[in-house]
Amino acid sequence: MNLLPENKLNTVLTKIFEKLNLDTRFAVVKVSDRADLSDFQCNGALALAKIARKNPREIAQSIAAELENCPQIETVSVDGPGFINIKLTNAFIAETLDKMAVDPRLGCGTVDNPHKVILDFGGPNVAKEMHVGHLRSGVIGESIRRIEHFAGNEVTADVHLGDWGTPMGMILAEIIAQDGNLEKVENYNIEEITVFYKKANIRCKEDERAKETARKITAALQDGNPEYRKAWQHLRQESVNAIKKNYEELDVHFDLWWGESDAHETCGEIVRLAREKAVSEIDNGAEIIRLEEGNKPKPPVILIKSDGGYTYHTTDIATIKMRVDRLDAQEIVYFTDSRQALHFEQVFEGVGKLGIAPNVNLKHIVFGTVNGADGKPFKTRDGGVMNLETLIEISKDKVRQSLPKAGEVEGYGEKEIEKLVSQIAVAAIKFQDLKNTIASGYVFELEDFAKFEGKTGPYIQYAIARINSILRKAKAGGRHEGNIILEAPEERTLALKLAQIHSVVMRTLKDKEPSIIADYAYTLAQTFSTFYNACPIMTAPTPELTASRLRIAKLVLDILTLMLYLLGIEAPEIMLKAQNQGE
Ligand code: ARG
Repeated sequence: MNLLPENKLNTVLTKIFEKLNLDTRFAVVKVSDRADLSDFQCNGALALAKIARKNPREIAQSIAAELENCPQIETVSVDGPGFINIKLTNAFIAETLDKMAVDPRLGCGTVDNPHKVILDFGGPNVAKEMHVGHLRSGVIGESIRRIEHFAGNEVTADVHLGDWGTPMGMILAEIIAQDGNLEKVENYNIEEITVFYKKANIRCKEDERAKETARKITAALQDGNPEYRKAWQHLRQESVNAIKKNYEELDVHFDLWWGESDAHETCGEIVRLAREKAVSEIDNGAEIIRLEEGNKPKPPVILIKSDGGYTYHTTDIATIKMRVDRLDAQEIVYFTDSRQALHFEQVFEGVGKLGIAPNVNLKHIVFGTVNGADGKPFKTRDGGVMNLETLIEISKDKVRQSLPKAGEVEGYGEKEIEKLVSQIAVAAIKFQDLKNTIASGYVFELEDFAKFEGKTGPYIQYAIARINSILRKAKAGGRHEGNIILEAPEERTLALKLAQIHSVVMRTLKDKEPSIIADYAYTLAQTFSTFYNACPIMTAPTPELTASRLRIAKLVLDILTLMLYLLGIEAPEIMLKAQNQGE
């Protein structure tokens, strides 16, 4: 069910346009920019007039005259050069909300043509700590995963683990250099493995020979050397366990834990196919696919390096083939920062030449970097890369400061408080990220991001807890919700805001831009606050108004909870903040 008032108006307008012999493409309304004048606007007359070389006001008048007969419309006026301003009747808005209140989807429709979409996000790497870049990919990807699913598409989220490149050879080489062999590998835990990797990185930067050894070991590993494979298996497993813990904490979920290594067999197929189709060639000992040079020359796809190893290009191309062949992907979306923009351009072009994903929509969504106060990528105090675990701990520490201690509130021991700390801390981290448009980077705000005021995740969680408390008290007082009656202007404004849910979700889906939902949730929470200040619930002038306002409050609660869910954020029922809680 899609209960958007716009849809009703668009249908009415389309009929009118047909009757008046006007091009129905222009029979659309938009939410008015001037809430004081109207709820919705139709600007179609201006475009029509231009084409027909007629007076726009005259066309607008003829449409407006017809609109006056529509029972859902309170007033219509033609303003300026030919804008049609429409105000809906309170009865129609109230009826819309009454229907939303009993709809499990809260009035939000689904997509017309559901399709199968694979989301490739997270992208953590074996033996490397996850940093804030992996945080953004995970947080944005998880939100898009939930939105796609809610909108009716069939979604598969794949973590695409970095487990097959030169870093694998580097770390094996480092362990051999230090231990003499790989016998002790299985005793190493993730912290030790990470240290080996860091040392390997330094060694390979300084020593060309060490780099060469690492490359050879990588090629041998890919080729199936049993000793390397066995050691690598352990490194991979330890990393996966650590990564899963991190993502669990962040409430980020994947359907598949495929890695680059899972594409290995298919890499061979890709190379054979490239030869068959004669799209590859040998260049300086490497096998490459040359890309059209056009205006801007683009470096080629490298399928096999001169040492015989496959590359990041090859594994990605092979993975696309697997996703198309095995998962019937119709759309594949990648989420990484801009440093991989060229990589994906090359991969997508290579895929085009190989013809392995016809009619599949391949998209790379590029996000901005998470910066520190100095505007440079976010670092730890000692200048190192900020890892995810540290970041979560920082956020939790902040949140703990604004919560009561264990035992201070009845029923809240250590376990309950820590659960709340985690829910609020994760909300703070995620919302701080998702409130920004994806393409823009943002400064990781260490002071205010976990506050209960301002445009933060905890502010919205708090608004939800507050409504929960209002509803609990109403229930205890024997009050129930009832049909919606709109009287006060604040009531009407809030109602119109609630009725936007479908368009908000659909726009977010279309633009793959969770900031639209974040913005809506924030302004909805604020609009509720204004409403609640002006329109008392329990002490409303009549019992019918109390019942109506309870239904409105419940709808706000449900919609805010759904919006947070779509952002990947939990909504605790109680927030445990003594001041200003509840009615
Ligand atoms: N592992 C990569 C990195 O850390 C990200 C993977 C992105 N996905 C992909 N299919 N290439 O940068």
